[in-house]
Amino acid sequence: MELDAKVCYCFHVSKRKILSFIRHEKPRVPSLISECGGAGTGCGWCVPFLKQIHAQCLESGSANLEILHSDDYAKGREAYIKAGKGKPPANPNNPA
Ligand code: FES
Repeated sequence: MELDAKVCYCFHVSKRKILSFIRHEKPRVPSLISECGGAGTGCGWCVPFLKQIHAQCLESGSANLEILHSDDYAKGREAYIKAGKGKPPANPNNPA
């Protein structure tokens, strides 16, 4: 996954933005990444990836999601939504 690829589709938060947030804010737990533009507070699809990024970033200072292709990630989220596992926010510009 490229640095500028979206990780949270609900709130359009990129991997770059999340890494920067973690490096600067050093959130103790992954759920605090929600303070980065509301990441992870919509449909929930990105939460496992936010947890991975958080763990990797604390361990090594960066996150290695390169094995994950952005298109596959987006398709995975689409299938997740269609399966009724999560609901995107009605107003993505106003995270709850
Ligand atoms: S993709 Fe992040 S909460 Fe939906």
